[in-house]
Amino acid sequence: MPKWTRVFDQRFGGDDADARLDAAAFHRNVEPILAVLETELAGVEGDIVEIGSGTGQHVVAFAETFPRITWWPTDYEADHVTSIEAWRRHAGLGNIMPAVQLDAAGPWRFPGSVQPPLSNLAAIVSLNVIHISPWPVGEGILRGAGAHLRTGGKLVFYGPFKRDGAHTAESNARFDQSLRGRDPSWGVRDMADVERAAVANGLHLERIHQMPANNFILIFVKD
Ligand SMILES: C[S@@+](CC[C@H](N)C(=O)[O-])C[C@H]1O[C@@H](n2cnc3c(N)ncnc32)[C@H](O)[C@@H]1O
Repeated sequence: MPKWTRVFDQRFGGDDADARLDAAAFHRNVEPILAVLETELAGVEGDIVEIGSGTGQHVVAFAETFPRITWWPTDYEADHVTSIEAWRRHAGLGNIMPAVQLDAAGPWRFPGSVQPPLSNLAAIVSLNVIHISPWPVGEGILRGAGAHLRTGGKLVFYGPFKRDGAHTAESNARFDQSLRGRDPSWGVRDMADVERAAVANGLHLERIHQMPANNFILIFVKD
C-alpha cells in the first residue's frame, strides 16, 4: 500500500478518534484531476460511484467541486472505508453518501436502504486502482461500467498506463517492476488491453488526457 499517514484532529475527540488517512500523492494530483473533471463532467448531474476511494480525500474534493452530483465512495479495505467515513464526517457535505465496502471484481452491492441508481449512473471514477490490484479488478470495473452507467455515462480511469505495449517513461517501467515484485498480479496496464475489455462491455475510449508525472486519464463512454 502507498505511504499514507494518519491525520490527527482534536475536533474528533483526540488522536484515536480520528481515522482519517492522508495520502501524500493526493496533494500533488488533486488539482490536475479536478481540472480534467471540470471539463469532462461539465453540466453533469446525477450519481457517481468511486471505486477504490482509498483515504477518501478525492471524493471530498470532488463533492465540493460538483455540488449537484451525489458521490458514492467505495473501497475493498475496511480501514480505508473507515478513513473515507472520517473524511466524509469531517467535510460535512450532504452530497457524499456513506462509504461502502465493495470488491469491484465481484457484483457491485450497496447494502442498506440508501442505494445508488445502478442502472443510471452518470459516471464511475477510479483513480490509481487497476495497476495496484489484480487484472480481474479492472475487468470488474469495466463490467460494472457496462452494467451500471447510463447511456453516454463516463468511466474515468486515472493512473499510469502503457501505450502500444511500451511504458511511456522509464520511471513507470521501474514502478511497474516494483508493483509486480510486490504482487505478480499487479502491474501497469496497457491502454489497448483496457480498451479491448471496455469494448467487450459496451463502452468506447472517448479521450486520453496526458497528466503530470507520466499519468493519464482515460475517458470511456457507455454506448
Ligand atoms: C493505490 S490506492 C488508490 C486510492 C485512491 N483512489 C487514490 O488515488 O489515492 C488503491 C485502492 O484500491 C483499493 N482496491 C484494491 N482492490 C480493490 C477491489 N478489489 N475493489 C475495490 N477497491 C480495491 C485499495 O483498497 C486502495 O484503497
